[in-house]
Amino acid sequence: MKKIGVFTSGGDAPGMNACIRAVVRTALYHNLEVAGIIRGYNGMIHDEIIDLYSYSVSNIIQQGGTILKTARSDEFMTYQGRKKAFDNLQKHGIEGLVAIGGNGTFTGAKIFYEEFGVPIIGCPGTIDNDLYGTDYTIGFDTAVNTAVDAIDKIRDTANAHDRLFFVEVMGRDTGYIALHSGIASGAEVVLIPETLTSIDEIIEILNLGKERKKSSSIVIVAEGDEEGGALKIANKVKEKFNYYSTRVMILGHLQRGGRPTANDRILASRLGSAAVQGILQDKKNVMVGVVNQQIVFTPFEECIQKQKPITNHLLQLIDFIR
Ligand code: F6P
Repeated sequence: MKKIGVFTSGGDAPGMNACIRAVVRTALYHNLEVAGIIRGYNGMIHDEIIDLYSYSVSNIIQQGGTILKTARSDEFMTYQGRKKAFDNLQKHGIEGLVAIGGNGTFTGAKIFYEEFGVPIIGCPGTIDNDLYGTDYTIGFDTAVNTAVDAIDKIRDTANAHDRLFFVEVMGRDTGYIALHSGIASGAEVVLIPETLTSIDEIIEILNLGKERKKSSSIVIVAEGDEEGGALKIANKVKEKFNYYSTRVMILGHLQRGGRPTANDRILASRLGSAAVQGILQDKKNVMVGVVNQQIVFTPFEECIQKQKPITNHLLQLIDFIR
């Protein structure tokens, strides 16, 4: 193999740039040429492909977002789109790919490999941390720290006014950001899609806080909670419990930006570098992850199908320390 391509796809995540940098530098170290594909699968289809050199990735390890841009591609879901993408890869002499993204990215990668045989290795890049085959995904640690920073500020004003805040964090299908930011910020309640939300239970907990003379309470809601978002849940609680005056805060895309934490930079560098080494060892159709501090490769099929279970002892911890 002489040349590989790298791209970012799906929602951006802080640390993607550190991963791109590690892919490029490791490839060059092993005498492989590298191309950058702009806007994920869309760029592959529309021939937005540029050569990358060592200097192309200088000074990006500390930057959020992704220098290669990112997109969710409807066109790649069609055979015609994928065929165009394959033709463009051939035109540029690209023989292998590193895809940095989440579930949707790897679903596309798997189909593409099956149809055209281009070896692809995935690097888990999503703030949601919802990928089976790795303990943590690139961007999760930064998103949690961003959320904690915001919740700490909310706590100040909540305390000053004796208020109850509902804070909605991201997590389309999982409660990882909610759980970790909730524990780190001392939230009273954390609501996640993996467990059933009971309005009565929330009120019971808030009442206990009231008895203990807590001057504020914070409920963290993962956006994907089955009972609804923060606004909806706040309204349901307010109907039955009005001891505190209530406010709602939706953190939204704030959690996707910002400088990656040191942990994310290190994780991204390890994963990007391991992906290139995996390609050189003839691995394909797999995602590289870190499990118990060790680099592991898991077939896309498993990463897509299996759900990463939420950490039960962390769930319990909230009950013990609230
Ligand atoms: O998958 C990452 C994520 O940030 C989710 O937490 C969120 O639901 C989704 O992306 C938002 O996507 P978009 O940026 O397309 O609105």
